[in-house]
Amino acid sequence: MRARTFLETQTVILLDGKTTAQAVTEEIKGEVALLTERIGRPPGLTVVLAGDDPASQIYVRNKERTCTECGIASEVLRFDSDLTQQGLMDTIAELNARDDVDGILVQLPLYSHLIEQDVIEAINPAKDVDGFHPVNMGRLAQGLPGLRPCTPAGVMLLLERYGLDPSGKKAVVVGRSNIVGKPLALLLSSGGPMGNATVTLCHSRTPDLAAECRQADFLFAAVGRPGIITEDMVREGAVVVDVGINRTDDGLKGDCDFEAIKHKAHAMTPVPKGVGPMTIAHLLVNTVAACKARLGID
Ligand code: GUN
Repeated sequence: MRARTFLETQTVILLDGKTTAQAVTEEIKGEVALLTERIGRPPGLTVVLAGDDPASQIYVRNKERTCTECGIASEVLRFDSDLTQQGLMDTIAELNARDDVDGILVQLPLYSHLIEQDVIEAINPAKDVDGFHPVNMGRLAQGLPGLRPCTPAGVMLLLERYGLDPSGKKAVVVGRSNIVGKPLALLLSSGGPMGNATVTLCHSRTPDLAAECRQADFLFAAVGRPGIITEDMVREGAVVVDVGINRTDDGLKGDCDFEAIKHKAHAMTPVPKGVGPMTIAHLLVNTVAACKARLGID
């Protein structure tokens, strides 16, 4: 066995999303109580579940539980597969019009006969707590205030709470989805606090992914393939954030080979209990923000 380098003998800092999310949830609970007193009702979130992905059932249950815990009025509308596109569009229109609904979240993926993009674009951007509407994505791209997608914003919040600022560093994001990779690359380079990294966005057509990843001071894996990021792709002392949640025969696995990479990274998120809970914590942040913005409260 080869001798271990100095860094390999150091213990990796585990970026504990579960505990951090609990702390954020406690803070939001206080804000929700104040807001409820001020406006005479709790902030409201409606989740629409119109799909049959088993993981979505779990996500939605967790979202509902966390909202209830911190005093947000949450409601889940569950639909069978006979729901039509028009039926879903009508539901969105009703939610857009309801005064007690501050946030609307349509859980993805939808049943395959439904057109996701049309549904996303039907949501009032002011209630779009997922931050997926082109108006909110466009505002993010232009560095304007708006609702930010929960997973990438939750990642930034986790790094901030651990004092890990990517500013001035090289960040590599692997995966260019609209839900994670693309908005994360924008947040990392937005110019705001924590947003001054030099970012490379890698994807399935990147010629030498390993070489790109090895450049990273901050490496973000958001591909959805278990173990695709191996130890040889990680620079010693890097911060590694694993956004993958892959259900395998061996249980939940991230996109990173955690056991090998933990000897090399300075800090790393586990899977589970890493990024996942931060996504939900940021949904609470967005719901309170949407409520305040709609009512003109600062
Ligand atoms: N499916 C997987 N992640 C997400 C998310 O952040 N929001 C929604 N609406 N659906 C998802």
